[in-house]
Amino acid sequence: MSHIEIEHGCARSVEGRDALMPLPCRVLAVSQETSDVKALRITSLQGTRPFDAKPGQTAMLSIIPSGECMFCVSSQGEDYLEFTVKKVGFVTEQLHALRPGDAVGLRGPYGNWFPYEGLRGKDLLFIGGGIGMAPLRSLITYLFDCRSEYGAIDLVYSGSTPDDLVFCREIQEDWPRIDGVTVHLSVYRESPGWDGEVAFTAPFLERLGYAPDGRIAVLCGGPSLFRTCLASLEKLGFAPEDIITTLEMRMKCGIGKCGRCNIGSHYICLDGPVFSIAELHKIPGALH
Ligand code: FES
Repeated sequence: MSHIEIEHGCARSVEGRDALMPLPCRVLAVSQETSDVKALRITSLQGTRPFDAKPGQTAMLSIIPSGECMFCVSSQGEDYLEFTVKKVGFVTEQLHALRPGDAVGLRGPYGNWFPYEGLRGKDLLFIGGGIGMAPLRSLITYLFDCRSEYGAIDLVYSGSTPDDLVFCREIQEDWPRIDGVTVHLSVYRESPGWDGEVAFTAPFLERLGYAPDGRIAVLCGGPSLFRTCLASLEKLGFAPEDIITTLEMRMKCGIGKCGRCNIGSHYICLDGPVFSIAELHKIPGALH
């Protein structure tokens, strides 16, 4: 059986300019997605998209002199790149304080990308938790733009409470209206106003009973969700070659300089961040 090919070693793709030098940009729009997550649309000083990013690629947002943080490009439009920023520390607090028109630095794109070309014609099962929706959304919105080229799209998305479900309105109301798209949401705790599923992601996924049947699974979430859902996918019969994930959360500089992302002799930023589970099985320490 042929499996999906993922390109690796693409991190040096920042051609023609200093890979560490941020491009001066500005904030085009800000939207509050949950109580601690904002989506920032960033445009160049000329009002154009700062660069092209493939689904799953990352970039570094910077505020001088506060610092910089790496994020997946969660979607893009003609004149912007969008980033989903969870407030977790000093720099992300500064990013949350930005308003439209404010200055921000941007460098990238970094890393490899989801193998969207190899996924053509395939049915896809996305499994995500909380802020893990950001990288998944980069691929899902790409697929929506060329919907007829891909098979069924199923999403199993969870959070502790409804407030942890990023892009919830869009996912709940808009996505299920798209042909061949099915959305399953759950929260882990009973919550006021929530009359949907209350379940952890892995047992929910098993109860939904997705069989492999040529499907490719794309998994992204925190360590606990990742570990339990990976076990569930394997129990459901998915081969490690047919499960794809991104390890972008482990990246810092993005270009092999800081040593913060290594697993054994591999650097996530140089080899990834997108891998199949079969590939991660061959990297000692990657799945533990
Ligand atoms: S993120 Fe710095 S070496 Fe990989």
